[in-house]
Amino acid sequence: QNDLGTDIEKVLVTEAQIAHRLTEMASDIDRDYQGRDVLLVGVLKGAVMVMADLARALHSPVRMDWMAVSSYGSGTKSSGVVRILKDLDTDLKDQHVLIVEDIIDSGLTLSWLLSNLRSRGAASVEICTLLRKPEAVKVELDVRYVGFDVPNEFVIGYGLDYAERYRNVPFVATLAPHVYQ
Ligand code: PRP
Ligand code: MN
Ligand code: MG
Repeated sequence: QNDLGTDIEKVLVTEAQIAHRLTEMASDIDRDYQGRDVLLVGVLKGAVMVMADLARALHSPVRMDWMAVSSYGSGTKSSGVVRILKDLDTDLKDQHVLIVEDIIDSGLTLSWLLSNLRSRGAASVEICTLLRKPEAVKVELDVRYVGFDVPNEFVIGYGLDYAERYRNVPFVATLAPHVYQ
């Protein structure tokens, strides 16, 4: 028990695939922003790994800030109603903001976040996500940078958790059924 070797069911995206794709995404971002001053906004906690590795693959000196949000309301996590647990330290007025996420599932978190950040007078707000689940999406989002589309299964690793664990797994995987019992 508590052993990654037996908890992992199937690796969906390997460490090498993540590293390679983040390099490609970083060069797209470098090209698109052309040295403009960019503020990366990481959404805690899932985005920490993507933020750390994406930022290091960029060739411009970006700033990084963090937000923590929580869905609330009854039942399952993505109600679409979002509460800010930790707000940005940065004033977004006239800033080029790039939101960095680990995964877009229903899209409800980001949909809310996008309009919240846009209302603060940013010059631009775009989204960069490592993973997206096309079959789970409930709200259409204009996502500028997507790493990988993944099937509609519960995935962990590289920042993504199950009950706060497995964020430190260096690849993206599904969990064996015994973990859920
Ligand atoms: C997860 C994930 C995204 C969000 C996606 O975060 O990291 O932020 O859910 O779901 P959605 O597209 O359906 O809104 P979670 O709320 O689990 O918090 P965490 O990042 O701290 O794990
Ligand atoms: Mn998250
Ligand atoms: Mg989570």
